[in-house]
Amino acid sequence: MATVNAPTSQTSPASVPPSVFTLPQTAQLEALYTIIRDKDTPRGEFLFYSDRIIRLLVEEGLNHLPVVPKTVTTPTGATYEGVGFEGKICGVSILRAGEAMEAGLREVCRSVRIGKILIQRDEETAQPKLFYSKFPQDIASRYVLLLDPMLATGGSAIKAVDVLKEQGVPEERIIFINLISSPEGLKNFCTKFPQTRVITGWIDKGLNEKAYIIPGLGDFGERR
Ligand code: URA
Repeated sequence: MATVNAPTSQTSPASVPPSVFTLPQTAQLEALYTIIRDKDTPRGEFLFYSDRIIRLLVEEGLNHLPVVPKTVTTPTGATYEGVGFEGKICGVSILRAGEAMEAGLREVCRSVRIGKILIQRDEETAQPKLFYSKFPQDIASRYVLLLDPMLATGGSAIKAVDVLKEQGVPEERIIFINLISSPEGLKNFCTKFPQTRVITGWIDKGLNEKAYIIPGLGDFGERR
């Protein structure tokens, strides 16, 4: 049977900011996205396959954490000059959809601390507004994996990083992880925070008039 490689035409356009890292655009990854994008995919399968992508994204996010030299002794008595993670991490999920990514982070980082942040549109100003937040008390000294599945206009993610910076977290210690980004959202986010890394699974074509990502997967929260 013929095999089809993931078309490279769907990967990052040349205009993608340098702080953006996509997952390797393999045929397997494209197959996972094809399942979760399909409007007829049942909820159980959507959960299973979106969790698989989230796990890949978290693993990729961890690749961007600094390491320091670490020497251990193996059971053979030999020394092994390896590395260990340099600092402590925590997750922060942007409610409500970001909560769906917490389990994927916990699977990879046992007993990781996870904060939460609720941002909604202020009806008077039409701007994103902070409604609730809860963070580990020492968040300023941690690397933060910021979790939100869909980067559409970037409004919520930008507000979330503003709030984290107010908590004392430098923007270069924040790693923003999402499943699908729009080029508009990436441009808005990365222009404001050029030192925050963005790990995304796929960069889509754009936004429609309702600020849904196109082709996207619809409302992530409704599909979980
Ligand atoms: N949030 C979603 O769930 N889907 C989009 O397309 C955009 C934002």
